[in-house]
Amino acid sequence: MQTVQSERLPILENLPIAIASDHGGFTLKSLILEELMRLGRTSVDLGVFSSERADYPDQAKLLAEAILSGDSKMGVLICGTGIGMSITANRYKGIRAALCHDEYTARMSRQHNDANVLVLGGRVLGVETALGILNVWLSTGFEGGRHIERLNKIERLL
Ligand code: RB5
Repeated sequence: MQTVQSERLPILENLPIAIASDHGGFTLKSLILEELMRLGRTSVDLGVFSSERADYPDQAKLLAEAILSGDSKMGVLICGTGIGMSITANRYKGIRAALCHDEYTARMSRQHNDANVLVLGGRVLGVETALGILNVWLSTGFEGGRHIERLNKIERLL
């Protein structure tokens, strides 16, 4: 069973941030990739690579597998609302995907939930809001403490 630990492993911080979207998140994905580059963060784009209609579970699956395999430590998923990506990604044990609509939920999802996937709604958020959420999410750490056992209780489910 995978358990959550409060210690951070510095070497993992250098792993690329995985990012994926469906057509509903395609435009925002491009802007997020530019922002990651501006921040000097490496990323790996898992598609989609055009605005043609696509099924969000396919990209959520690729990203969840990239994180669970250890190729990436953190990821960003974007669909129209963020809901389909959240539902799919959270089917994977060890994935803690947080659909965030503002900087407060982004901060809490890292401090309290140690979210390893940020989910955004490309048809819901303005660009400035989305980039603000991204920056807060990437720069906020897990608090550990009382939250560790709560996360371990999630891991022990089914
Ligand atoms: C696609 O039209 C849309 O359903 C998808 O992007 C997402 O919002 C699903 O949750």
